[in-house]
Amino acid sequence: MKKDFVDTSDFTKEELLYIANLGILIKKNIKAGFPLNVLYHKTLGMIFEQSSTRTRVSFETAMTQLGGHAQYLAPGQIQLGKHETYYDTAKVLSRLVDILMARVQKHETIVELAKNADIPVINGMSDYNHPTQEMGDLITMLEHLPAGKRFEDCKVVFVGDATQVCASLMMTVTKLGGHFVHFGPKGFQLNEHFQEIGRKNCEISGGSILVTDDEEAIVGADFVYTDVWYGLYEAELSEEERNRIFYPKYQVDMDMMNKASANSKFMHCLPATRNEEVTDEVMDSPRSIAFDEAENRLTAMRALLVYFMGVADTTEKICRRNLGI
Ligand code: CP
Repeated sequence: MKKDFVDTSDFTKEELLYIANLGILIKKNIKAGFPLNVLYHKTLGMIFEQSSTRTRVSFETAMTQLGGHAQYLAPGQIQLGKHETYYDTAKVLSRLVDILMARVQKHETIVELAKNADIPVINGMSDYNHPTQEMGDLITMLEHLPAGKRFEDCKVVFVGDATQVCASLMMTVTKLGGHFVHFGPKGFQLNEHFQEIGRKNCEISGGSILVTDDEEAIVGADFVYTDVWYGLYEAELSEEERNRIFYPKYQVDMDMMNKASANSKFMHCLPATRNEEVTDEVMDSPRSIAFDEAENRLTAMRALLVYFMGVADTTEKICRRNLGI
């Protein structure tokens, strides 16, 4: 039976860690210069209802590196949801490509595409979550664990607006047993639905979740993460409004990074509005791992494509043989 990647809540901690570690292994293989044509002649269909840099480019690059091809199905250039139903689009694309990803306005769209497609469907972001970002972020945190700490020992503080990236980060951190804080103003905090998911994750994983507007919550953070203040789909808040709500308390500056801990790392899903939610000083400092995080979108996409195309075991064997491990 085909599997989809719509929500990391559908996967166990072990499955998510397996995909993350597979990504790290493939990355080593590619960086060592070994070809990896495990998706030779396979095609990824990429539906974008919104603009994208990282998601689009990393999916397309991943397919090329794995010996396959990606087709960009641009906003307004396919019939999805206008002249053709989601059901028909899912059925047609299932005959034309091997795997599908979609960045959609409404989460129901990706659910509908996954339900009706006969091929694996990957969620490239909706108004609810951003699971491929989650995987890249998990890989980045695993690669940057503080010395002597396990992931379960880490505190991850998301600062600012409860975007879908905030919700997604919470879902991974709590599932893996880490300690998650959303430090944001009332009215822009993770809602009860997400907090309930977090609490249930923590009951199983031993992690913790806190949602607060108390700035003391930043103390002890290993990872400080933020996202834009302008709302899920841009321009929901004017610049004047967002400054009134978030500035200066929720701007990540060097004082906040130092309050977190001497070695705290800064993360951002990007694109960033520099000197709004994060200062240049932080973005461009050695404490920032935001560009490693962007690179790890590619690390995650390779692993997800391989995993959902059913060639993870073969890929792992090839990489291990190539690397002699
Ligand atoms: N972080 C992220 O999803 O970036 P893009 O919108 O550029 O894909």
